[in-house]
Amino acid sequence: MKIRLRRARHFFDVAALLSVRKTYPLSPEFEAKTRERFEEEMAAPSSERWIFLGYDQRGEAVAYAQLLLREADNDPELARAGEIAHIYDLRVCFDRQGEGIGRAVVEGLLEEAAKASIEVMTLGVENHNPRAIKLYENLGFETFKVAEGRTENEWVFYMRRSTALSRARSNG
Ligand SMILES: CC(C)(COP(=O)(O)OP(=O)(O)OC[C@H]1O[C@@H](n2cnc3c(N)ncnc32)[C@H](O)[C@@H]1OP(=O)(O)O)[C@@H](O)C(=O)NCCC(=O)NCCS
Repeated sequence: MKIRLRRARHFFDVAALLSVRKTYPLSPEFEAKTRERFEEEMAAPSSERWIFLGYDQRGEAVAYAQLLLREADNDPELARAGEIAHIYDLRVCFDRQGEGIGRAVVEGLLEEAAKASIEVMTLGVENHNPRAIKLYENLGFETFKVAEGRTENEWVFYMRRSTALSRARSNG
């Protein structure tokens, strides 16, 4: 799967981000909040956060994801300027899941981070998200700590790997 990543920087990118988000259930109230969140996040300095849209070969926005470059959950093991970037808010269009888009987006993020000389990529994934866990494991991410989630029986696995692409495991 070939996916082109493009930094979302302009007000019109909010519509594309929302079009991906809206392939999942989204009440009008939550849509307004999500729009506000995207606008705020896009206004953040480039040294803090990069927001990417992923486009398929037909030029359709099919995914988005962010890299937090300085700070994630106030934990220096998750993000540290120039050294560790944290994947945040990865989402593939609901009707395009399972096509390898998620994998292509994460590979693109690894490349972007490596280009910026960032050596380590981290992320957090909840135990009830087997698809995401499989995706990250396929790409060679390994759990380095576990934290309690927001609800009972919810756990967050914090995973990391080097940004060197040669370390990605083959997809079989
Ligand atoms: C999680 C998500 C990003 C994955 O993207 P995707 O494009 O569907 O993933 P891919 O097709 O690249 O790969 C998914 C892998 O999970 C596997 N998979 C699919 N459903 C699965 C399931 N129910 N249990 C375990 N593995 C599953 C696929 O077989 C594939 O592995 P393979 O390459 O070994 O066959 C996407 O489903 C998504 O946006 N989900 C909603 C938001 C979300 O959960 N984001 C992640 C937050 S950490």
